Amino acid sequence: MKDLHILMVCLGNICRSPLAEAILRRELAVHGIPATVDSCGTGNWHSGEAPDRRAMQVAQSNGIDISMLRARQLTAEDYQRFDFIFAMDRANYNDIIERAPIGTRTEHIHLFLDYAKIVSPRDVPDPYYGNIADFHRVYQLLEDASHRMIPLLRDYGAEGS
Ligand code: 4NP
Repeated sequence: MKDLHILMVCLGNICRSPLAEAILRRELAVHGIPATVDSCGTGNWHSGEAPDRRAMQVAQSNGIDISMLRARQLTAEDYQRFDFIFAMDRANYNDIIERAPIGTRTEHIHLFLDYAKIVSPRDVPDPYYGNIADFHRVYQLLEDASHRMIPLLRDYGAEGS
């Protein structure tokens, strides 16, 4: 099976996408699907920073350490390097599409919850201005979506091998 390259994208790369990266990585490992999972933000305000402490806390309470992750901004090379680019919300999706370098393919760019066949909500809500309960809700949503992704990504990997 070929090694899948998956990129999770949000706005700041300190709340949603680092959690999404770590949760999907664990889910894929549990199911024995070889993959490289990364994350980034459309914005650069937090580049070089560790995840938001509330995201680290919620991850830790679910047995995942994300403290070593560092925020970075989406680059032109990312469009080529990844088999899938998953946007956390529609604003992120629109930004990713708008910034696609001329001539790069965009059919591998999806709204994460949409691809996971979650009908409602469509967006992973931004918890940055919220409280710890909002981070727990985001965690549960991302875990549910990551779980639903497994058969889809397994099929993709099998076809590519
Ligand atoms: P994220 O959350 O996109 O899930 O990482 C945010 C982080 C920072 C900001 C907004 C959202 N900010 O405005 O700095």
